[in-house]
Amino acid sequence: MTKLSVNINKIATIRNARGGETPSVLEAAINCQKFGADGITIHPRQDERHITKKDVYDIKPIITTEYNIEGYPSKDFIKMVIAVKPEQITLVPDGPNVITSCAAWDTVKFQDYLKEIISEFKVHGIRTSIFVDPKLEMIKGAKLCGTDRIELYTEDFAKGYSENKEKAISPYVLCAKKATELGLGINAGHDLSLENLAYFSKEIPNLDEVSIGHALISDALYLGLENTIQMYKRLL
Ligand code: PXP
Repeated sequence: MTKLSVNINKIATIRNARGGETPSVLEAAINCQKFGADGITIHPRQDERHITKKDVYDIKPIITTEYNIEGYPSKDFIKMVIAVKPEQITLVPDGPNVITSCAAWDTVKFQDYLKEIISEFKVHGIRTSIFVDPKLEMIKGAKLCGTDRIELYTEDFAKGYSENKEKAISPYVLCAKKATELGLGINAGHDLSLENLAYFSKEIPNLDEVSIGHALISDALYLGLENTIQMYKRLL
């Protein structure tokens, strides 16, 4: 079964719009798990515009499933992740000023750099995943970096889905097969939704986990969080 990790950044965005503690990020994490999420994902950014450093630490003790922290591996970020010790770290090459993740790693160019960071997390028993485009050379490069998993960057799939879903999925299928052949676990995320998730999950072999935030939290405004999580789970 593919696991659903719910990204709760958007809950923090709403909370921060007013200051204070409403809606509570901790309560959201507790409830997502109660309603069936298999994991909680956060993506703290340097400017703390949604998830704060305090959130990163506060969430850890209420995790009953899997804690996945995503982000750019600055020195401060690495130190914080090692202190918190989540089940998984997802490395993303996003700069400080981007609205959301908008690029994947070049696992060939940054191989030595990634290798060093990944080995540091491994010493602390933290599973590693790196955010990659669906290109075979990037999957092979990821393997050489020593990562446990890759996270396939699904924005292009989501964009191409309505026009030609067979064409949109095809590079992802090839890369998933290659990843399995190389012994890499497979995660996926970005712009996955109620519309495109069933097809993605049906077509991608050995999909370990999807992490979904924007569409899921938006759907929950109309459908309720419990119902929405169950709907996403059924598509997996
Ligand atoms: N994966 C990564 C690496 C991300 O940065 C994000 C967004 O924070 C997601 C998955 C989830 O994307 P979305 O919010 O579009 O579901």
